[in-house]
Amino acid sequence: MNKIERQQNWSNYWKKHFADSCCQGIESENSDIEQFWLDCALALNTGSKVLDLCTGKGDAIRKLIDSQIKLGRDISSFTGVDLSEVDKGKVKDKFTDLTKNVDFFYNTSIEDMPFKSGAFDVVISQFGLEYSLNHQTLKEVFRVLTEGGTARFIVHHAESVLTDVAKDEHQHTTYLLEDSSFFSVVEKLIPVFAKLRNPANIEKLKQDKEAIELRKRFNIESNLIASKIESSAIPDVLQESLTLSDLVFRMAREQGAAKAKEKLQEFIKELEQSNSRIEELIEAALTKKELIELCDTVKQFGRNVESMIELRSDNHKVAWGLILS
Ligand SMILES: C[S@@+](CC[C@H](N)C(=O)[O-])C[C@H]1O[C@@H](n2cnc3c(N)ncnc32)[C@H](O)[C@@H]1O
Repeated sequence: MNKIERQQNWSNYWKKHFADSCCQGIESENSDIEQFWLDCALALNTGSKVLDLCTGKGDAIRKLIDSQIKLGRDISSFTGVDLSEVDKGKVKDKFTDLTKNVDFFYNTSIEDMPFKSGAFDVVISQFGLEYSLNHQTLKEVFRVLTEGGTARFIVHHAESVLTDVAKDEHQHTTYLLEDSSFFSVVEKLIPVFAKLRNPANIEKLKQDKEAIELRKRFNIESNLIASKIESSAIPDVLQESLTLSDLVFRMAREQGAAKAKEKLQEFIKELEQSNSRIEELIEAALTKKELIELCDTVKQFGRNVESMIELRSDNHKVAWGLILS
């Protein structure tokens, strides 16, 4: 995926998932991720200037601020930067009376940031840096970080539960988009259901050979999906597709074929975007070997690796935690 596609993809994602968290499902009292950010908050000073790379809608900043509030500390100054196009005002509104402590730069790649050298004492990222992990990004990150500053990154782990879920979902979306004829049969059935708007067609369609054949193919395709649902631990996208077909047929009957086709196309487009985002996550997730290579590169920039740990939640691997100075 090129940068423009990635930007559009994430911009659409944040439009639809403004209320969701990237850490959904792994946020728990026992999560090392919570502890990682708590430790980070403990190390911040009142005057600390913190930059959150690939901030999304500022979830990592939120965690640090919540920890500072819990610890009774003064709130530091936070800046978030992200490639996607997000309504900065809407994100800032989430910080209610702390808006003066936060600022966001969207449509901005971490490979080329509009900040002065040494502008930040702390640079953080939660499931972001790894999406753009290259020499130019590291050079830029260490440019904006003060000498003696600290970087704390949580990055995707190639063997984490999140990556496992992503692999399952990727298999399902690829099946639906490439291997199965489910959506093409649904599309062909839309005009059939639209004809049912006229009661005179009901009996006619029962005898219509083409309609009967399409229904048969639809049943075969749905049964294949249903059997995949039964054997999958994460069947959400398969289930959503079956539910979508019911909705689309109802729309065809009640509102006509055009609206139903539009809904189907919208769903397929979202699925395609989700498929490429998941693909990116799987590619971005780091194996231990890749993490060690990253640490070697960090040293070539004259920085130190303070710690490199496997983060867990309820005893499952969820990420790598990296602290650099
Ligand atoms: C998995 S989300 C993480 C968002 C956020 N850190 C969180 O924890 O909720 C990854 C984010 O990385 C951003 N991103 C990907 N490549 C980027 C780049 N080159 N520069 C800036 N942001 C980028 C995407 O726009 C997306 O918002």
